[in-house]
Amino acid sequence: MPLVTTKEMFQKAYDGGYAIGAFNVNNMEIIQGITEAAKEVGAPLILQVSSGARKYANHTYLTKLVEAAEIETGLPICLHLDHGDTFELCKSCIDGGFTSVMIDGSHLSYEENVAVTKKVVEYAHERGVVVEGELGRLAGVEDDVKVADHDASYTRPEEVIDFVGRTGVDSLAIAIGTSHGAYKFKPGQKPQLRFDILDQVSEKLPGFPIVLHGASSVIPEFVAMINQNGGNMPDAIGIPEEMLRQAARSAVCKINIDSDLRLAMTGSIRKYFAEHPDHFDPRQYLSPARAAIKELVKNKLINVLGCNGKA
Ligand code: G3H
Ligand code: 13P
Ligand code: ZN
Repeated sequence: MPLVTTKEMFQKAYDGGYAIGAFNVNNMEIIQGITEAAKEVGAPLILQVSSGARKYANHTYLTKLVEAAEIETGLPICLHLDHGDTFELCKSCIDGGFTSVMIDGSHLSYEENVAVTKKVVEYAHERGVVVEGELGRLAGVEDDVKVADHDASYTRPEEVIDFVGRTGVDSLAIAIGTSHGAYKFKPGQKPQLRFDILDQVSEKLPGFPIVLHGASSVIPEFVAMINQNGGNMPDAIGIPEEMLRQAARSAVCKINIDSDLRLAMTGSIRKYFAEHPDHFDPRQYLSPARAAIKELVKNKLINVLGCNGKA
């Protein structure tokens, strides 16, 4: 099966009350860990590449690795651009074999966001590629861009019909209180999401797939593994799994996870070196890192997203 778009995946996820995992990928071991997990549990997948990942690993390497994963697993896999910030970047990914792109105009004015999103949709749809847009702005860190809490803003439900209608996007990322990175809530703060905004958005857009970014749970076990093996991470709080299950049952069809993968990989490598300070073969410390990613992703697919057996 060639790489697929999210069209059929989202339709089934919407109707079935589950969500597809969208995992950020940067190298071979991350791709292998994720896809081996998905193969074992029979889950469809979105593998997403940020512009930073593309700069780090190179477009062709990442595309070919994802194609290799599809050949090895036979799963429905969508290759998606995460947080494309210009038409040119989206065009380059569409021309280069991606089956889905995000145009993130959330840093622009509403009218500018509409204009650039519409332009990407026109280019993408002519080539059979689907597009995710964004309304509202998440706090946190993506690439070199850090959005301060006071610059973040919730999605305004009164804008979504106009935005989707005028742009023609296939899915919409909304801001309901999640944020990028490992520090989503202040120490001692109780995690809260604006499910009322999600409900209002989905009432206005019946049947339309919604996307949740910044959805790592910041698994305490991995933060502890980092800190017990020479790390020094401050208290980090993510999105509780029960909230993600609630989102997955709703109109949310795509849930983005990156930070949890980073923590699992780093925790595992730190532990390995603490136990084997004399080792230097990358295969020795990357094998358990890949295995940690696989276990983490398997748990997400089965216990959080509910997309096991849906491939
Ligand atoms: O949304 C951001 C993702 O975690 C990707 O992060 O831009 O550092 O690759 P990155
Ligand atoms: P996390 O930082 O919570 O993993 O979010 C990832 C994300 O939204 C990628 O677009
Ligand atoms: Zn994101």
